[in-house]
Amino acid sequence: MNKQIKKIAILTSGGDAPGMNNAVRAVVKHALANQIEPFLVFEGYKGLVNKNILPATQYDVDQYVSKGGTFIFSARFPEFKDPNVRLQAKKNLEDIGIDALVVIGGDGSYMGAQLLHEIGIKTIGLPGTIDNDITSSDFTIGYDTALNTIVDAVDKLRDTSNSHNRFLMLEVMGHGAGDLALYSGLATGAEIIITNEHTMNEDEIAKIVNHQIKIMKKRSVIAIVSEFIYPNLKAIAKSVEEKTGIASRAMALEHVQRGGNPSAQERIWATLMGIKAVDLLKEGKSGIAIGISKGDIVSIPILEALQAPRKSNKEKAIKFNKLNQS
Ligand code: F6P
Repeated sequence: MNKQIKKIAILTSGGDAPGMNNAVRAVVKHALANQIEPFLVFEGYKGLVNKNILPATQYDVDQYVSKGGTFIFSARFPEFKDPNVRLQAKKNLEDIGIDALVVIGGDGSYMGAQLLHEIGIKTIGLPGTIDNDITSSDFTIGYDTALNTIVDAVDKLRDTSNSHNRFLMLEVMGHGAGDLALYSGLATGAEIIITNEHTMNEDEIAKIVNHQIKIMKKRSVIAIVSEFIYPNLKAIAKSVEEKTGIASRAMALEHVQRGGNPSAQERIWATLMGIKAVDLLKEGKSGIAIGISKGDIVSIPILEALQAPRKSNKEKAIKFNKLNQS
């Protein structure tokens, strides 16, 4: 017989992502509907260790339904790798009588949830990152909104690049994963999509730019590039300009991608996953990651989620480049 869960805490950790607020709201509301007292941990694992934990009933969670960021804040907290720091977190939860913790974040946050599970705190992980790099879920909370933000930016960049007959390189986030570059490229018709698994050197880029503008008579060429590939994107654009004689510019979209109101899809997935987290805890489950697979909410052990191999995007990158260059 499972011990009845009486108090649940929620935290958001790592890079913030639009939709996190919807997941927090869903956990709070579904907990209350099940006579479970919800608590909010402010500033992720850092707040857990500093006992920055307050009853959720003090907050009107509904007002954040349309807001980006995370109203319970987030933090990068590498100190959580220290077992003594984790014991302090456990003690803080036990002092308040909290039985379980819902963690919304990326794979580093999942690892924290797994380690707490191993020392006796019931934990559930929700995928929250714009990078879409949690392989056990088809989509992560934040990805859809970030993708739309990039698409909006590229559409604008296309306008000005067309006006000036230019080549434009745009660097997007992803932390090693290519989905943001790949699918924003597909959605905007970017002539060049460069991901970690499908890179190009300056000569290859220049050749495509030349062909697209001089032979295909396009007014502009856009390249969407995943972060961490070129240490100096402006230097690449300059070199392409020198090789082709076509005016070239480069920019990184940076943290603009992390902000903004969550898309409808984001709100829906985040809410359904938050509800599922409470249901699993009620069933006595722990060390479980929630995700989306083929349109359904699914759950698997966090360890399995962390070990799932990263999906390769090389074939897709080749295919999408070919389509957009034709
Ligand atoms: O993981 C989300 C993310 O936005 C990555 O895409 C990016 O590499 C990283 O976080 C940036 O982190 P920070 O906001 O700490 O600079």
